[in-house]
Amino acid sequence: MNKINHVAIIMDGNGRWGYKKKKSRNYGHREGLNTVKKIIDETVKNKIHYLTLFAFSTENWKRPKSEITYLFKLLENFLHKKIDDLMRQNIKLKIIGNKKIFSEKLKKILKNSEKKTKNNSGLQINLALNYGFKEELIYSINKMIKYKKKINVKNITDNLYTQNIPDPDILIRTGNTNRISNFMLWQIAYSEIFFVKKLWPDFTKKDYNKIINKYSSIKRNFGGL
Ligand code: FPP
Repeated sequence: MNKINHVAIIMDGNGRWGYKKKKSRNYGHREGLNTVKKIIDETVKNKIHYLTLFAFSTENWKRPKSEITYLFKLLENFLHKKIDDLMRQNIKLKIIGNKKIFSEKLKKILKNSEKKTKNNSGLQINLALNYGFKEELIYSINKMIKYKKKINVKNITDNLYTQNIPDPDILIRTGNTNRISNFMLWQIAYSEIFFVKKLWPDFTKKDYNKIINKYSSIKRNFGGL
């Protein structure tokens, strides 16, 4: 049985789900947040230590302003309402991505949420916000230049936003699209990838557990035999 330490998810399909229900894209995002909550609970139940969620990419700024505003409002409400639950569930929150661009208000909310949960020892949720791997790689390289580090695998890894986080064992992408979209390109080098046809709001605990069970039976040899 393969032990699962880290699951990463590209939560795709909210917008299409909203349209499918003859409602707005934002309606789909709201429902997508309900799936986020269910999947967090299920990750805790499965005793998986890291869950990385791709919530907003460096490319998502190209979306209409009303959608961007709605997504960040959802995030703020989520952090506000969920923080006690996160504490109760012993969950630690970490933001990965470039935070510089955020408003002072959002930066403060994110910082407070990380600070409040930093000593929790259960599940660690890595929320990818304004995240894109190319940007993350440049961030890592710049740090290496600044501290005069040799360019090697260890130093690149240790200077990414994901420093000290093991690589994902599993990458899931919902939404019937078979691409990676600039997500953790270094870290998923040996991850098992599951492309799911369902749109994110339709993704269930049962779908998640099916993937977890399937993964357990896969033989991983990391390039060996
Ligand atoms: C991709 O679907 C989804 C996003 C860009 C945002 C993900 C956000 C959530 C799941 C809800 C908020 C989550 C948190 C943690 C606050 P899409 O909009 O690209 O869907 P489409 O492919 O149908 O257009």
